[in-house]
Amino acid sequence: MSIEDLESVAQAMVAPGKGIIAIDESTTTIAKRFQAIGIENTEENRRAYRELLLTTPGLSDHISGAILFDETIRQSTKDGVPFTQVMKKNGIIPGIKVDKGTQALAGFPGDVVTEGLDGLRERLQEYAKLGAQFAKWRAVINITEENPSSTAIEANAHALARYAALCQEAGIVPMVEPEVIMDGDHTIEVSYEVHEAVLRSLFNALYEQNVMLEGTILKASMVIHGTKSAEKADVEEVAEATVRVLKSTVPASLPGIVFLSGGQSDKDATAHLNAMNRMGPHPWPLSFSYGRAMQQAALKLWSEDIKGNVASAQKIVHERAKENGLAALGQWKG
Ligand code: 13P
Repeated sequence: MSIEDLESVAQAMVAPGKGIIAIDESTTTIAKRFQAIGIENTEENRRAYRELLLTTPGLSDHISGAILFDETIRQSTKDGVPFTQVMKKNGIIPGIKVDKGTQALAGFPGDVVTEGLDGLRERLQEYAKLGAQFAKWRAVINITEENPSSTAIEANAHALARYAALCQEAGIVPMVEPEVIMDGDHTIEVSYEVHEAVLRSLFNALYEQNVMLEGTILKASMVIHGTKSAEKADVEEVAEATVRVLKSTVPASLPGIVFLSGGQSDKDATAHLNAMNRMGPHPWPLSFSYGRAMQQAALKLWSEDIKGNVASAQKIVHERAKENGLAALGQWKG
């Protein structure tokens, strides 16, 4: 695949008014979501739930792509049609999570580093054959009095850049995700400083590894106070700080930025994105790649009657997609 092909996939991912639905929870993460609502974590329940999401009528009105987990990209609808085929037919770009999760960073208590580079070249080739056109790697940056160390920031940036280069070699658009975690009692100012250091380190590393930014998407966290902070920033403050840090660290040649929701309420995730877009125009489209903020209301309704509530849960998925699609244009009315 040429750089032009990577570029056109990346641009399609952030087409005006469209964003990504992240349904790439690992088997252990979906176990937590299912357990919270009393659903048994079986392969069939995971398959049925992902089928519900991916077959939502009109999903592509506001959704450009979906990030799948390794198990999911190999699954099919109950009628035996591979999910990737359903997605392509419905105009949804298949994506795949390729990292193998975090491990403690030796020598740096409280810091973690994402694993999964070994064998990644071969895995990417297989995912490309299965139909994946973009891939996600998530780095996790924790904030405490002692974290993150500069070593953790650099180790994670290096891994993200190595992964991104391998993706482009395989003809897959890398979605690089350095998530600065919201947990903690830190202020929005501390979140800003950590985001600035993390994004600077990431774009240096991408440059060092010869990654073509024109064929790359950034999945970013928002600059926001910690969940246990005594001082809460309002919607405008979060939007202003997030746009400011992105403008000072992210080159304009990047085709787009999508945000994770990270544990924000559905309403906050939408309101923050909307406020940022009302402050535009910006050098890049700002859209969404929400997991929880796209799914939690629908998941709860589905859990109450997993056979009977499919259509009504899909309506909620469509509604959340529409609200976030409007927010990606700065046209959400609240
Ligand atoms: P949340 O929006 O639930 O944070 O999930 C997005 C995601 O893919 C995190 O890696």
